[in-house]
Amino acid sequence: MEVKTGFVLGAGIMGSGIAHLMAQNGVQAILVDVDDAILKRSIGNIENLLNKRVAKGKMTEGEVKELLGRIKTSTDMKEAANADFIIEAVIEDVKLKQKVFAQLEEVAKPEAVLATNTTACSISEIASAMKDPSRLIGMHFFNPAVVMKLVEIMPGLATKPEIVKATKEFAEFLGKEPVVTDKESIAGIASRVLAGLLNEAVWVLDEGISTAADIDKAMKMGSNLPMGPLALIDMIGIDTHLAKTRTLYEKFGDARYRPCYLLEKMVHAGYLGRKSGKGFYDYSQDPPVPTVLK
Ligand SMILES: NC(=O)c1ccc[n+]([C@@H]2O[C@H](COP(=O)([O-])OP(=O)(O)OC[C@H]3O[C@@H](n4cnc5c(N)ncnc54)[C@H](O)[C@@H]3O)[C@@H](O)[C@H]2O)c1
Repeated sequence: MEVKTGFVLGAGIMGSGIAHLMAQNGVQAILVDVDDAILKRSIGNIENLLNKRVAKGKMTEGEVKELLGRIKTSTDMKEAANADFIIEAVIEDVKLKQKVFAQLEEVAKPEAVLATNTTACSISEIASAMKDPSRLIGMHFFNPAVVMKLVEIMPGLATKPEIVKATKEFAEFLGKEPVVTDKESIAGIASRVLAGLLNEAVWVLDEGISTAADIDKAMKMGSNLPMGPLALIDMIGIDTHLAKTRTLYEKFGDARYRPCYLLEKMVHAGYLGRKSGKGFYDYSQDPPVPTVLK
C-alpha cells in the first residue's frame, strides 16, 4: 500500500516526532491537536531539531523548508478523510483513545489503516468502541521517533492480516525495524521489560537509598545503558510513565509494576519531565541538576 498522506492525532512528544519522520520520508503529514498554540510549539520543536542539522552541515536550509512544507497543522480531526495512514498519539488514556477512534473511523477512507501509538492500552479494548475493530492496530514508535530504529507492531485480537502487513510495510518505508508481536498483551515487549527497571529506579530514589544522579550513574556505568533510568523517565514524561505503570499494575496485578506515589506527587506539581522543564532533573539549568523532591 502506498502512503502519500499520513495523519497524526496529538502533537506532543510522539506525535511531532512521527509527523517529522513522515515528512522526512516524503510523506505529506497532517498533524492535529486541540489548539493552535500546541501545534505552533510542536512545529517550533521540529524546526529547532532541523536547524541543528543545518548547523552541523547535514541539511540545507532549502531542505528544511521543503520538509516543513510537508507538515500541515490543523485542529480539525476531519482532515483524517484525506489520509492513507492514520496514527493516534494522544495522551495515554483508553477512554480518550476509544472516543477518537470512533470519530476517526467515521471520516477515514475505507482502505486507510488506523493505528495507535499507545504504550500500554489494550488494542482490543480501544477497538471495542469501533464499528470495525479489524482496522485497528498498535504501532508503537520509540522516543525520539526520528532516531529510534524499533517500531513494535501489536495487532489486537480482531486485527485483519492485511492491516498487519500494511503497517509493517509502512514502518519499513519510514526506515524502521519492525517487530510484530505474536499475541496481544499489555505494553508489547520493550516497554513492558523496561517498565520494571524504570519503576525500580523510582523506588530506590524514594526509599532514600541514593540520589537521582547516582542512580543514573550506577545504571549507566554498571549496565552500560546509554542514559540513566530517571533521565529516561523525564524524556518519556512522568505522566506518560505513570499511566503506563498504572495500566500494567492494574492488568497484571504484579507488585513489580506498582507505581511509586512519588510519581503521582510529581504529576500534581506539574513536574512532567523534559516537556515541562522539570522532572527528576531541572532542565532550566545547563547541564540539568537533580530536582529537590522532598
Ligand atoms: N513519551 C514517550 O516516550 C512515548 C513513547 C512511545 C509511545 N508513547 C505513547 O504515545 C502517546 C502520546 O504520548 P506523548 O508522550 O506524545 O504525550 P504528550 O503528553 O507529549 O502529548 C499528547 C498530546 O495529545 C494531545 N491531545 C489530547 N487530547 C487530544 C484530542 N482529543 N485530540 C487531539 N489531540 C489531543 C495533547 O494536547 C498533547 O499535545 C501515548 O499513548 C504514550 O503512551 C509515548
